[in-house]
Amino acid sequence: MCTKESAYRRAEKVYKAYADGRNEATLLHDVLDFKSPSVHVSRIIEQPRPACAQWLHAAAIFSVRGAPGFRFIRGALSADRQLEVAYAALTEWCEADNESNLNAHGRTRSLWAEHLSNPKSSLLTKLSWLTLGHHYQWTERTYDPARVSPFPPQLAVLASELAQACGETMVAEAAIINFYSARSTMGGHKDDAEPCQAAPIISISIGLPAIFLLGGHTKDEPPIALLVRSGDVVVQAGESRGYYHGVPRILSASPPRELLDACSSSNMVGVAEWLQTHRLNANVRQVFERDERREVHPHNAVCTSERSNLASDRLESGARSHDHHASTHSIVTDAKLYPHKRPRLGAESPGQ
Ligand code: OGA
Ligand code: MN
Repeated sequence: MCTKESAYRRAEKVYKAYADGRNEATLLHDVLDFKSPSVHVSRIIEQPRPACAQWLHAAAIFSVRGAPGFRFIRGALSADRQLEVAYAALTEWCEADNESNLNAHGRTRSLWAEHLSNPKSSLLTKLSWLTLGHHYQWTERTYDPARVSPFPPQLAVLASELAQACGETMVAEAAIINFYSARSTMGGHKDDAEPCQAAPIISISIGLPAIFLLGGHTKDEPPIALLVRSGDVVVQAGESRGYYHGVPRILSASPPRELLDACSSSNMVGVAEWLQTHRLNANVRQVFERDERREVHPHNAVCTSERSNLASDRLESGARSHDHHASTHSIVTDAKLYPHKRPRLGAESPGQ
């Protein structure tokens, strides 16, 4: 059978090809850069900011022609905030009963401490995602109401204030924290597992810059390539909430050195150094319609602070075959670590 390659796939291949040493400056030629909006004036429109939190007053908010509802908040998070979020992700959020691709290794405890004493061979090098709040189930592509951990309040406030700055509202109920190495990529996908598709996705970038591809409702629509830097936030609201998107390329030649200068404590120095060679993405979602949520979880008025037993079906779910979405949505890390397959719950047994 001969199937034509989609426009999304073609674009993805172009950016991936640069992994082999081609110059990053050439690669960026057709990429929208929100630091130079005037160069891309036909595509990028700066938006007035509605009433928003004081800390966001220095940020600039843009929309992109042809992508209704999409917003890009340039420089949303100060260096201090970026370091705080990254530090929490690498310590607290790993320590808690959250789910991650390392659950199958039996533990995700003390990854950061282990990394500090042994950076090359610590388990942290194998961490590619963890989930917070309502834990996304990769194979089933659903949220199991029984698998929920407390959602970090500081991240919930951050996400809802970012949404508000774009004139949107959202209650953070789930997040995927993606950990990218310089060679990781994320395939094109839609985030359509959330029953609530009306609230925006808030996607926070910290660390190495990356190319973000924003497609359309189908992969046949040619995607727009955007440059996302440390501290930038992508907001998929409205129509664009349902668009294909992904990250075909991390740009390792321009690390965020400003984070090194912003460290106010020795804890942060290690985090800023780690961010010179990695990218962290906090992808925050509202899962349930507010009314629906009350119906589904009458006991769960404050579901973000509830804890429940984690189901013990991880290996079973890991044994199922990859569906298309599952195999493209999550990060493909350095080929040496994860040949061909992305790591996920229960998927690390031999032969997977
Ligand atoms: C996701 C996602 C994008 C990014 O986690 O669903 O689309 O910028 N992440 O890493
Ligand atoms: Mn996504």
